[in-house]
Amino acid sequence: MSKTSHPNLPKQIPQHVAIIMDGNGRWALKRGLPRLAGHKAGTENLRRIIKACVEFGVGYLTIYAFSTENWGRPHEEVNGLMRILEDVIDKELSELNEQGVQIRHLGRLDQLAPALQEKVMDAVHTTQHNSKLVLNVAFNYGGRDEIVHGIQQMLKDGVSPESVTPELVSKYLYTAGVPDPDLIIRTSGELRISNFLIWQAAYSEWYVTPTYWPDFNKEEFRKALDEFSNRDRRYGKVDAPEYEGTHV
Ligand code: FPP
Repeated sequence: MSKTSHPNLPKQIPQHVAIIMDGNGRWALKRGLPRLAGHKAGTENLRRIIKACVEFGVGYLTIYAFSTENWGRPHEEVNGLMRILEDVIDKELSELNEQGVQIRHLGRLDQLAPALQEKVMDAVHTTQHNSKLVLNVAFNYGGRDEIVHGIQQMLKDGVSPESVTPELVSKYLYTAGVPDPDLIIRTSGELRISNFLIWQAAYSEWYVTPTYWPDFNKEEFRKALDEFSNRDRRYGKVDAPEYEGTHV
């Protein structure tokens, strides 16, 4: 987390913001449009929020774009989401690169079409030295799958039971090297974690808004950051000066 002195910025900017971009389908339904139109509008909005993160000085943005459960949606929607990822890389990579965005992928790449795997790896490789904003794209990602994958790797590496610590587990997750999210935003009002960053979210602050993702604009994002700024994060401890100097 970083403190700001700029009068137009919130007092504290979270170092890492993670977003469950929910409500695209309902946004489209309300307008009599197909669900994919909602995902496309959501993609447009993502561009705005990435820019806002760069402007506000957020260091890491993690977006939940396709979960391991989303394979259960109709073929047309699954294929549409794959096409959106492909299009974003084709059309936005050079601008993201110019903005200093480093793209990382979270999840299982090997279940995607080989051409799409190549594109994702190319985007990761092309932007690997950028440092303005790390954009973690959770695509074919599930929190439980991530933990299972991490345990499998630990066993393959012959890690001994005694050396397993929370820090070591973190190193075996897709998010290795990324600080835990300070703030998790969920749009469209649902009060669920939905298998997103279940390990990393242990002490994250939550912000839930009824706004559907395509309408969650820079102003709304700013509101979320303002609210975060006023949260008192205690990580399970207490601020109790009356106990100072006493030990149990
Ligand atoms: C949840 O809304 C949203 C998704 C499952 C997909 C989110 C994807 C994007 C915004 C596209 C941008 C991403 C890429 C590939 C970079 P929902 O469809 O579950 O909404 P509903 O609950 O209203 O039906």
